[in-house]
Amino acid sequence: MLGAAGKSPVRQHVIPQARESTQNQSLRRPQLQNNNVSVFSDSSNQYVPVPKRWLRDHCQCESCIHPVTKQRLIETFDIEDVDIRSITQSNSGFNVLWSDGHKSYFTEDWLTRSGLKAQSRVAERQGLTDVRLWNGKTFQADEHTNPLPTIHYSEVMASDEGVGAWTALIRKYGFAYVDGCPPTPEATQELLERIAFIRHTHYGGFWDFTSDLSYGDTAYTDLAIGAHTDTTYFTDPGGLQMFHMLSHENGSGGMSLLVDGFAAAQELLTNYPDDYAILATVPVHSHASGNEGISVQPQCTFPVLVHDPQNGHLVQVRWNTTDRAAIDTPMEYMQRWYDAGEKWAAILRKHEYWEQLQPGKPLIFDNWRVLHGRSSFTGKRRLCGGYISMDDFISRFKTTNWGKDSVLKAVAQG
Ligand SMILES: [Fe+2]
Ligand SMILES: [Zn+2]
Repeated sequence: MLGAAGKSPVRQHVIPQARESTQNQSLRRPQLQNNNVSVFSDSSNQYVPVPKRWLRDHCQCESCIHPVTKQRLIETFDIEDVDIRSITQSNSGFNVLWSDGHKSYFTEDWLTRSGLKAQSRVAERQGLTDVRLWNGKTFQADEHTNPLPTIHYSEVMASDEGVGAWTALIRKYGFAYVDGCPPTPEATQELLERIAFIRHTHYGGFWDFTSDLSYGDTAYTDLAIGAHTDTTYFTDPGGLQMFHMLSHENGSGGMSLLVDGFAAAQELLTNYPDDYAILATVPVHSHASGNEGISVQPQCTFPVLVHDPQNGHLVQVRWNTTDRAAIDTPMEYMQRWYDAGEKWAAILRKHEYWEQLQPGKPLIFDNWRVLHGRSSFTGKRRLCGGYISMDDFISRFKTTNWGKDSVLKAVAQG
């Protein structure tokens, strides 16, 4: 909520564009000091002793950390005696003998890394990679010099490398097309499940519908729908969404609209930082109540532009006029939200990219970044698709692109 002066409490906003480098990290080696280990802290720029409780909690031995799952196997706070009996430095690490007889070994590399908190591991954790921002003009150039992010169906179905290339495209652009998919619901579902299991909602799991009003939602009509993100009424909105148009008979229209929400946010931040701060702080509630016996609302408040509280990264755009409920700001500040929303909506319109969906060419997009919509249409359209949760997508992206070993290594290097 905004304070009386109308100033935002958010200190910084960062639109992800490139993966942060962890290369130029300080490589000052851990030291043996006073029968304990000291590591170099890049937060205070000095050597600091590690707490013994922390050191024991992070024992890397196979009875403390499962070698495959990297899960902790000990009840840390059940260990009463965590005094160090002796500690010795070897070539590449430290051997610790604890007073209860337990033995630990820590590599220098691991201990060094553990002192570097100012250099966040956000890229490894959240699967950040180079992000290419785009707008409506970006993909209107000659298709041979500036092709749409597209991968062939056979490549994705053939191997995990194919899934890696596909998920990397989605991570970079926020969307991708798959060429050469059989225009059937079965093939589309199989394709989507190459990334992860399908996320169910009160509308079901994998859906396949023609335009009629079988569910109480505008998506199931033939009306035009402006740029929005889906499922803002969930605490954790759907991460990926796939659309595959299987057929369109006896009619026309129904162009698909995509907007890069991160590019639009960048423009808002550059030109109207105060409006950006309002959309980044004022909670906007949402609901889904169209189905019998259902009224879904998030269990936590969110603004339109959601940032990582630790590093200020924009992680999610939540923009859905249809599902919007209360705007949670006192009435005396309400006009400011509408002023900010008006600027945001105008930028979204400037960034629109339109494309006709084709049978055999499913579209998949990141619902936390890319807004979607469509023009009105006539005739009978049959579409199928589904959601994948964000965490499952990022997990698949990381393991297919970076390898599970390297992902797990980053997990273990606190
Ligand atoms: Fe939608
Ligand atoms: Zn151990």
